[in-house]
Amino acid sequence: MQNRVTELFNIQYPIIQAGMIWNSGWRLASAVSNAGGLGLLGAGSMYPEILREHILKCKLATNKPFGVNVPMLYPDIDKIIDIIIEEGVKIVITSAGNPKTYTSKLKEHGITVVHVVSSVKFALKAQEAGVDAVVAEGFEAGGHNGREETTTFTLIPMVKEQLDIPLIAAGGIASGRGMLAAMVLGADGVQVGSRFVASDEASSHQAFKQMVVDAKEGDTQLTLKELAPVRMLKNKFFESVIQLYSTNPTKEDLIKHLGRARAKHGMFEGDLEEGELEIGQIAGLIHDIKPAAQILKNMIDEFEIAKKEVSKL
Ligand SMILES: Cc1cc2nc3c(=O)[nH]c(=O)nc-3n(C[C@H](O)[C@H](O)[C@H](O)COP(=O)(O)O)c2cc1C
Repeated sequence: MQNRVTELFNIQYPIIQAGMIWNSGWRLASAVSNAGGLGLLGAGSMYPEILREHILKCKLATNKPFGVNVPMLYPDIDKIIDIIIEEGVKIVITSAGNPKTYTSKLKEHGITVVHVVSSVKFALKAQEAGVDAVVAEGFEAGGHNGREETTTFTLIPMVKEQLDIPLIAAGGIASGRGMLAAMVLGADGVQVGSRFVASDEASSHQAFKQMVVDAKEGDTQLTLKELAPVRMLKNKFFESVIQLYSTNPTKEDLIKHLGRARAKHGMFEGDLEEGELEIGQIAGLIHDIKPAAQILKNMIDEFEIAKKEVSKL
């Protein structure tokens, strides 16, 4: 398959495995890249030197392109950026911050830069900042998200109408059918998060992966909009947040309640009750844990079948 996204990243299929805190280390990223997609290391949960280790291991595990996701809401971002440049990483996907901050610096070093947005307004700002492509992420997505609640189905055609550079759709895509739908709406490629959480190579805890497989429609919700809006599974911690909302909490109350390292406790260490378990609405369509290469192959096979079906319409 060849289009603007496969050409931009020099990959076989326009499928990007999302950078995901506590889930996407070198094992997952290299497995996806080796299978023809674009694997991303999730720098958001890594100290700078840990990221360096993952980059080095990823280089040993694949000779295909891979990238690093840098959510700008975490500390040590300057150091993370320096390590990415020092280690010769060729692709960076920034998120949760201003695309102007690092785009020029990264591009001066020959790095392809993509920025994640959740609205048309920010897609245009990212384009203006000089990024090479935009990931537009809808309300369905797992993890941190926009406040506007714009769904992927509405966001992609609205961004497509105004954007000139390549467009990658994210949020609610876990199958070849979803991928085809996103591309019909105007995307050149897709970024897939939740589906790759339930992969053998994801670094998250087995108990969390199993909870994702067991999740049904309606088991996730976007919350904590006053801090950084995040979609998570409705576990004991989530219920305690809802309880807190009934008392009209201040922002400080919410920060205090969230505490430290909840996402690590939940997703990485397997505390299914008190941890923050980030996952997307599409978890209801994820029924098994399997190798990342298999996930990618299934998506491509289903995409081709769906394309034939659609051509008969
Ligand atoms: C467990 C989890 C962790 C995530 N962490 C990050 C992150 O560190 N940086 C980021 O830009 N997006 C993060 N996301 C969002 C993904 O990059 C991606 O855009 C999203 O998962 C796509 O929607 P989907 O989950 O429906 O596939 C995360 C998503 C999940 C499910």
